[in-house]
Amino acid sequence: MDKVLVLNFGGQYDQLIARRIRALHVFAEIKNYNQITPEEIRASGYRGIVFTGGPHSVYADGAPRCKSAVLSLGIPVLGICYGLQLLAFLTGGTVAPAEAGSEYGKTNVCTEENALFAGVPKNSVCWMSHTDAVQAVPPGFAVIAQTAHCPCAAIADDARKLYGVQFHPEVTHTEYGARVLQNFVFDVCGCGGDWQMEDVAEATIEKYKKVLSGKKVLLGLSGGVDSSVAAALLHRAIGDRLTCVFVDHGLLRKGEGDFVEQTFRDRFGLRLIRVNAEDRFLAALRGVTDPEAKRKIIGAQFVRVFEEEAKKLGKIDVLAQGTIYPDVIESGKGDAATIKSHHNVGGLPERMTFSEIAEPLRELFKDEVRQIGEALGLPRKLVWRQPFPGPGLGVRVLGEITKEKLEILREADAIFRDVLEQHTSDLPNQYFAVLTDSRSVGVMGDERTYGYTVALRAVTTDDFMTATWTRLPYDALEDASSRITNEVKGVSRVVYDITSKPPATVEWE
Ligand code: XMP
Repeated sequence: MDKVLVLNFGGQYDQLIARRIRALHVFAEIKNYNQITPEEIRASGYRGIVFTGGPHSVYADGAPRCKSAVLSLGIPVLGICYGLQLLAFLTGGTVAPAEAGSEYGKTNVCTEENALFAGVPKNSVCWMSHTDAVQAVPPGFAVIAQTAHCPCAAIADDARKLYGVQFHPEVTHTEYGARVLQNFVFDVCGCGGDWQMEDVAEATIEKYKKVLSGKKVLLGLSGGVDSSVAAALLHRAIGDRLTCVFVDHGLLRKGEGDFVEQTFRDRFGLRLIRVNAEDRFLAALRGVTDPEAKRKIIGAQFVRVFEEEAKKLGKIDVLAQGTIYPDVIESGKGDAATIKSHHNVGGLPERMTFSEIAEPLRELFKDEVRQIGEALGLPRKLVWRQPFPGPGLGVRVLGEITKEKLEILREADAIFRDVLEQHTSDLPNQYFAVLTDSRSVGVMGDERTYGYTVALRAVTTDDFMTATWTRLPYDALEDASSRITNEVKGVSRVVYDITSKPPATVEWE
């Protein structure tokens, strides 16, 4: 299998570059620039290397730089933005603040004939975001693109197969960006493009048949996409030696627990233990109103229930987890400020001891995990489901969590989802109801009512780091409001949340 290395210099698009290359059916792997040596790169058999962008000035003290030996391995290199500047810097060119000042946004670019630009018209639009620029082109390189403000928008040394572009081919604003990456991986690097999800699924199953041979494995199944696909894969590999524990904390959406049970136990014949722990969670949460305290209690209870179930099963050799590639990459980076203490139901209880951990999805992005789920025959409803937080409805019932409030929220949420699914096939990335802790006066028939206020939330986002509130059609909102107030006892008002992230977060708590 051909693979390409994405060498990260602190850019914000490293994952996007890898995903774009993988979409071409070529496996791409991300490493930080100081995580791998030139010798290791050679030994790993990469067919090409992409240097990412980054926020630094390459000439500054302490700027992230790889060894110049990386350029002498005979492996083609494509430098993007900071990556281009680093390539120039390491090969004897000079880089300085751009004379015309920084260049940002969609820009017309004029390209020369070159293998990198095959099929790209002479004039097209690219996406720029830089302050520094190459001032003196390194020996052996030709300038192969320019913009009005950037005389050196791309460089090439065809003989050594070293290329650099100042613009970002990985973002969709660059009209022919996908073509540039395609030219690089296929024509310059000579990759075959034979990396297919069905093959990945089969290879993973074969691998785990061997490494888990004769071993007993436990997996915490949340019903989310990642743990579900991990369960389906491992079940194909080891059958009944896999036991999944599904902790139903009573904070699930309407019908969710039964759906998980039916899918995995009844349809797939998987060994599934469903632990009904609602009473226990609600008892632990009684009287608690602080959002962080609630999250911590839910996380801690979860670990305890999971541990107890594991103990009942006797000796287990391996703990399996649905860790995916972005989790692996993120854990290799510095810690950003904690906004909320995230809790993942499938997460590893820290105090538990297993001799081994199995993470069959640790090299895959979310969209790839979904493709594998489909290839394994998991229901579309499960594979394409929207994200649902580990603490569940616990972060959507504001104030104290009670059984009564959870019931109200479950009904309102199910109605909202149903209404949206009927109104549009182009669903928001996440949409749900929140039960606020405020009551308001209403009138029904001739009676005065005094019920809860339900807030509806729907967001549009690529990565959930930022999100905008979705412009839902008024008639969908009208339908949702009228059905919720009519069908759910205890609700007298429905409001729509029109706050983006930032400044708000997606969840209310
Ligand atoms: P926020 O509210 O932080 O949410 O803007 C961003 C995304 O993360 C989900 N979320 C969680 N997921 N455990 C999870 O697995 C958690 O504790 C958690 N909190 C929020 C949220 O639903 C949204 O998709």
